[in-house]
Amino acid sequence: MNAEVCSRTGRCSWSGWALVAIAGIAATGCFSPAAKFEPNKIAIHKSELDNEYQFSQQYQIEPIAKILTDAFGTPDEPKLPPVPGIEDVLDLEKIKMAAGPYGSDESGKQRGLYRQHCVHCHGVNGDGAGPTAAFLDPYPRDYRPGMFKFKSTASGLPPTHADLKRIIEDGAAGTAMPSFKLLSDDEIEALTHYVKYLSIRGQAELFLIEAEFGDLYPAVVKSPSERNKEEQEYVAELSPEEVEEEKEEFLEEVTFFESEENIVDEVLGPIVDSWAEAEEEVTIVDEKPDWDMAESVEIGRELFFSAKTGCAGCHGQSALGDGQTAEKDFYDDWTRFYYDPSDPSTLEGYLALGALEPRKLRPRNLRQGVFRGGRRPVDIFWRIRNGIEGAKMPAAPPSVTDEEIWRLVDFVRYGLPYDALSENEPHQPENVRVRN
Ligand code: HEC
Ligand code: HEC
Repeated sequence: MNAEVCSRTGRCSWSGWALVAIAGIAATGCFSPAAKFEPNKIAIHKSELDNEYQFSQQYQIEPIAKILTDAFGTPDEPKLPPVPGIEDVLDLEKIKMAAGPYGSDESGKQRGLYRQHCVHCHGVNGDGAGPTAAFLDPYPRDYRPGMFKFKSTASGLPPTHADLKRIIEDGAAGTAMPSFKLLSDDEIEALTHYVKYLSIRGQAELFLIEAEFGDLYPAVVKSPSERNKEEQEYVAELSPEEVEEEKEEFLEEVTFFESEENIVDEVLGPIVDSWAEAEEEVTIVDEKPDWDMAESVEIGRELFFSAKTGCAGCHGQSALGDGQTAEKDFYDDWTRFYYDPSDPSTLEGYLALGALEPRKLRPRNLRQGVFRGGRRPVDIFWRIRNGIEGAKMPAAPPSVTDEEIWRLVDFVRYGLPYDALSENEPHQPENVRVRN
């Protein structure tokens, strides 16, 4: 097991870590090395490619890591930043139950639920790239962009606490995401808070990388040997005074974000607020009318195949998920973040940093009758009304009324034949991975 996997799972095999562990025992009397939140290397690399420079370790990567540790603590010792109202969104006691190594603390309190149940798929920092992830399709969720598929809120908004709790309780049918129904309510609450904690931390990190620190051109603060060719050329064209001036401006920006107050106002406050507000923005669903089901399914069928809804364009005339929109570059947004199918040349660099091999997204074969986001009528209503964020399933056009959405729900639940054609597709050969 290499160091990467080790830090992702927070657990290490004795062989690879014997020396470290012995040093650790000598130093602390403790067996497991402290788990670390690895930086979002994929986002850093993307920002570097976009801006054509390399981040400075000292003035960009390290300050970002420090800001995040000051605000959120570590995987073993989580804490919360002083954002007004954060207690309505995140419960530190619950987060502590999910955090840390699996076991119980001195007072006998449960710890480590996340590492026990989730980390091998979702990763220590919630990147969805734990050691099991490479073998799954779809991949486990990367929580860090704060984007979720199966929720009661509109696209662009965070999910509600209840949305996340439901998926942890019920799992996502037809995917590797298991149901954790047999855990106690307290434990599921703890895990729900922990997913939100990782998400909010991940969003803050992304914002710092993309918007704040990514905007600073580091050539002037780097030592000459650290500068790449473009950076050298850039600095060579400046006068010594200009270099000093730019350097000062750069360091001023970094200092700005070393202040907790500024981080809270500019970065963390707005993110936490968006999660709090999402609780009030559940898409209202009026009760489904009590109508004749056979008739409703027929109305739904017509709508499904109509130009007004466009459903068949993706899901296909047969609803097997083979519609014309099943185009070549059909990938979800988590993949599109680092993979541009029209320019695959950059992919290798991302894979080297731990990005997962791109997997094609498929419009759902609706004839399997499997609904990942839950099969209650209300779940399917939300999917069709709001779309499935990150997965290219668009919200139904506003001209489609709520009543018509209920017709479509009836059609997809009861109007499609289940037959041999609906069997799971065989694995695509390129998705089959050998253990290394
Ligand atoms: C065996 C792998 C595996 C394990 C273990 C696992 N998950 Fe997942 N999880 C997945 C996969 C795969 C998905 C993506 C499903 C999809 O995209 O349709 C997912 C998705 C999710 C989502 C996102 C749902 C959405 O609306 O986007 C949440 C939240 C989640 N998992 C939480 C957890 C928690 C908490 C645990 C531990 C208690 C856990 N998962 C354990 C594989 C796993
Ligand atoms: C642009 C393509 C596209 C269009 C148009 C589209 N869908 Fe989808 N749909 C998808 C994709 C892709 C998925 C699978 C998403 C995922 O990964 O979970 C999906 C999934 C679904 C699901 C499964 C939800 C679940 O919980 O598993 C239902 C139901 C569905 N679509 C119904 C519809 C209906 C009804 C319409 C028309 C109003 C429609 N879709 C239009 C692409 C599309």
